[in-house]
Amino acid sequence: MQRVSSDNNNGFSRRDALKRMGLLMAGVASLGMGPLTSCREEAKKRIILYFTGTGNSLYIARQLADENTEILSIPQMMKQGRHDFAADEIGIVYPIYGHMPPNMVRNFIKQARLLAGYKFAVLTFGMLDFNAAEIWDNISRQSGTTFDYINTIVMVDNWLPNFNMADQIKMDKHIPEQLAKVKEDLDQQKKWVKPATDAARRAHEGFMYFSRLDPDIGFLMRSEKYFQVTDACIGCGICTEVCPQGNYKLTSEGVKGEGDCDFCFSCIHNCPQHAIQFASLPGDPLLARGEVNPNARYRNEHVSLWSIKNANRQ
Ligand SMILES: Cc1cc2nc3c(=O)[nH]c(=O)nc-3n(C[C@H](O)[C@H](O)[C@H](O)COP(=O)(O)O)c2cc1C
Ligand code: SF4
Ligand code: SF4
Repeated sequence: MQRVSSDNNNGFSRRDALKRMGLLMAGVASLGMGPLTSCREEAKKRIILYFTGTGNSLYIARQLADENTEILSIPQMMKQGRHDFAADEIGIVYPIYGHMPPNMVRNFIKQARLLAGYKFAVLTFGMLDFNAAEIWDNISRQSGTTFDYINTIVMVDNWLPNFNMADQIKMDKHIPEQLAKVKEDLDQQKKWVKPATDAARRAHEGFMYFSRLDPDIGFLMRSEKYFQVTDACIGCGICTEVCPQGNYKLTSEGVKGEGDCDFCFSCIHNCPQHAIQFASLPGDPLLARGEVNPNARYRNEHVSLWSIKNANRQ
């Protein structure tokens, strides 16, 4: 796959780019061609691309949208092989995994050509974002795309090995206040990347050492190693639709899960029977202790199961 800078005119002529941003129309109108003036006043078009396991990032994508915004699922764009996007503003919303983007988001940005006058990224997290904004800044720049604005929003932490979802949903993380700030920044097309401290960078390095994850791929796992389906399964098929990798299949011998896994936890959180559990992994640095509460699961209260299926179905 050819990697090219989205900040160049790859796949688009300069004229196309100007047209998109309304500048060509503005130029024509300024020459006195009155009837075209209304084109100048067209509302800005925004595209928001998102990845989600349990709905937090889709909720934020929706909150950052207006009537002129197209909200697109990254797993669906990858499925369709769609990599070219053009609008006045393009944003990406995703959950951080070990302060890094999901592997699919990383692959997406390597192939994407985002043509927009303003680009932003909003990363959702549950407790510690450390240098997540800087990590995305580096990954996206290396892939040829520069984001003008990168910020984070703290929400329910869906990391089951450390957190009890029953407790998480009771915590007030001041999401409306955080959203209001981000919206204000975006309205002003603020240029800003949330800065990382040396302590945050060191903490991330410590996490990478402890977790033994490869920084070039992050949480790219194998689902058959980490998840097992118990006898509580009723064959409802939800797991076959909520997995962005399409790893689950209904077979004559029950549900089988296998394949490259983004570790998004969509399957384990959305199974209505709690029949998907972590495998016993005593030597695993992240999962040696299993999970805090195998009976508590989470999906963002504003996002339906239907929406998660639409986002991730393969
Ligand atoms: C594999 C994995 C790793 C995670 N790593 C972090 C992390 O490093 N820091 C953090 O604060 N939250 C972490 N989280 C929590 C999620 O980033 C957070 O709950 C996010 O809002 C979930 O978004 P979603 O509902 O769109 O999937 C992690 C969750 C998962 C599943
Ligand atoms: S979502 Fe749960 S109950 Fe439904 S088929 Fe999958 S494992 Fe079985
Ligand atoms: S197997 Fe589960 S955790 Fe892995 S990508 Fe699919 S839904 Fe996400």
